[in-house]
Amino acid sequence: MLRTEFSSYTTEKGKVSYSAPSNIALVKYWGKHGVQLPQNASLSFTLSNCKTITSIAYEKKSSASDNFEFQFFFEGQPKPSFELKINTFFERISEFCPFLKDFSFKIDSENTFPHSSGIASSASGMAAMAQCLVQIEVALGSTLTLEEQLQKASFLARLGSGSACRSLEGPVTVWGAHPEVEGSSDEFAVKIPFQVHEIFEDFQDTILLVDKGEKQVSSTVGHNLMHEHPFASQRFEQANGNLAELAEVMQKGNLERFIHIVESEALTLHSMMMTSSPYFILMKPETLEVINHIWEFRKENNIPVCFTLDAGANVHVLYPKSFKDEVLTFINSELAGYCQNKQYICDVVGTGIQKL
Ligand code: DP6
Repeated sequence: MLRTEFSSYTTEKGKVSYSAPSNIALVKYWGKHGVQLPQNASLSFTLSNCKTITSIAYEKKSSASDNFEFQFFFEGQPKPSFELKINTFFERISEFCPFLKDFSFKIDSENTFPHSSGIASSASGMAAMAQCLVQIEVALGSTLTLEEQLQKASFLARLGSGSACRSLEGPVTVWGAHPEVEGSSDEFAVKIPFQVHEIFEDFQDTILLVDKGEKQVSSTVGHNLMHEHPFASQRFEQANGNLAELAEVMQKGNLERFIHIVESEALTLHSMMMTSSPYFILMKPETLEVINHIWEFRKENNIPVCFTLDAGANVHVLYPKSFKDEVLTFINSELAGYCQNKQYICDVVGTGIQKL
């Protein structure tokens, strides 16, 4: 399924355009092995508003060559600095997409979220690019079914950035083979194979931009530190256990357990960083202030709002849509002051890639 051989192509040129959203993990992927394979299963909400829009124009090379020919434009400007990354990605996936060496490509990409917001664009960026490449393959005559197309796009996205494989579908996806999630795989993510309780279908995620700078330690370095980590095996086991419980909670709509698992996952992720060797801290004082305010607000008002963190200082505030007014009033009055330039982004759970 994954490698498509062509004896001839049904077309010599064309263009495809897709958007892919970012995602926020509730059960975290932190630790990998082999070629981008996860040490534990992870589960995420697919987002809606934070996304990457990518178009790829392709044209058959006039003469065969063994290198990749492409140009990359970000927000309309040529970006030679990204070209090395894309070349590495193409090298990694070309065994599954042999057509890459027969065509030249012009890739145009833009993000809907502010450039230097500290929000990782690798998940949405890699997912959008992978989906475009699979659709080029389809236009060239591959006979993948719709399901196989999504699997292949997720598979390719994973080879670009692990968490990117969870950005193709929504509202909730799982990456990593897990006994209680039918069809789950280490190689690609799947949409969760049951009906998610309606409360989660339009769950809100307000992203507080506490720190918009470059991270001091990249995710790739952090993942690698899990190889020698003293708590690694317990952590991977715990994540799989949390995923089993969260999957059930998300069918039943039990918000109390949801909050407990999600916040514990976020703090465990950062505990892994603090107990790595070398150790590091990505949270900022403002991150902790925000967390404490959320806890106070939840207790005083009995509103089911909670937080999660990715590999950075920004805080994702998660809550049901029915509490949007109260929570946004709280964010404006008590949390925005901890954000750089008082900036935050309102997002909501979404359904994945879109053809443009
Ligand atoms: C903390 O997917 O960015 O966001 O596979 O090296 O590209 P690479 O790492 P990446 O790691 C994401 C880590 C995380 C947790 C998660 O999204 O599950």
